[in-house]
Amino acid sequence: MLCIEARSLSKSYGNVAAVDSIDLSVESGKIFGFLGPNGAGKTTTIKLLTTLIPSSGGTVNILGIDASKDPLAARKRIGVVLQQPSYEPTLTVEKSLEKYGMMWDVDSGTRRRRVEELLSAFDLQDIRKKKNDDISIGQRRRVQVAREFMHDMDLLFLDEPTVGLDPSARRGLLDYIRGKVRDGLTIFFTTHILEEAEYLCDEIAIINRGKIIAVDSPDELKNKFGREKTIKIRVGSVQNISDMLQGVGSYKISHDEGTVIVIHSADSEQVLVKILQVLNSNNIAVEDLSVVPTSLEEIFLTVVKNSDTGISGEP
Ligand SMILES: Nc1ncnc2c1ncn2[C@@H]1O[C@H](COP(=O)(O)OP(=O)(O)OP(=O)(O)O)[C@@H](O)[C@H]1O
Ligand SMILES: [Mg+2]
Repeated sequence: MLCIEARSLSKSYGNVAAVDSIDLSVESGKIFGFLGPNGAGKTTTIKLLTTLIPSSGGTVNILGIDASKDPLAARKRIGVVLQQPSYEPTLTVEKSLEKYGMMWDVDSGTRRRRVEELLSAFDLQDIRKKKNDDISIGQRRRVQVAREFMHDMDLLFLDEPTVGLDPSARRGLLDYIRGKVRDGLTIFFTTHILEEAEYLCDEIAIINRGKIIAVDSPDELKNKFGREKTIKIRVGSVQNISDMLQGVGSYKISHDEGTVIVIHSADSEQVLVKILQVLNSNNIAVEDLSVVPTSLEEIFLTVVKNSDTGISGEP
């Protein structure tokens, strides 16, 4: 079942098309990652999907509800953590959670149980009695994300939830999210940390200048755009290495303590065999060798650059 279905969704600010006729389909029970450079339209899309701002065109269906016809019914079933920090300065951490639960009409028993669960899941026990004004920025972000889990929901939008979180808090949040998804929650999530998207997401869409330029699973994105691998071979100092390597494809050679040959190739196994043969027949010993798959980060940069220069997203 589709949890989010947007068709030709658009939002313009003056003559800026912040979101330019995008289509999105997000299946229930999945984690959908929404990536793109600054100003690409991610936050605007989240605000459109959560009915926080009116669209300039297109349709949004949330959990089977036409969001333009019945925004309140849609909002009741979703949660959203916006990019913008939001907190009540004088409330303590535990009262912030408690109050959020009250706003959502969560009964007091459930509230008490959830407050304890979240204080511990988000590592907030030690600061539970502190006011939001008196805690660190990362701790405040943790409270802002944690409080959203006070209420029941079927779909949660998270706009860069891990900004400012230390590595262990970040990993804790990602794993907490995964647990909730196992229990049936659907997540729409933006981040600039591509390892995070890769770790968490079933599907990833990349947006640039208001248009979606790629949608796929992380593995498929890698398959489509990242068959290329990087081979690095270090040998001792060799003078005429360029002559020897003629015919093995394009490579780059640098010299530091020895000679480093770097080759990007979609056909890395064969290229590697060829080079090793050449080196072997010239009695050159390999000091170090690595073959690294292209990262999601490189794919992101390639896809965005291609779309900026008008080259099609597909290879
Ligand atoms: N309220 C607004 N009024 C005018 N222009 C806006 C408004 N909000 C966003 N924009 C413009 O719309 C475009 C998309 O902005 P948006 O905030 O959606 O980007 P983003 O992908 O979330 O970026 P970031 O990674 O920096 O959070 C930008 O060009 C931005 O300047
Ligand atoms: Mg944003």
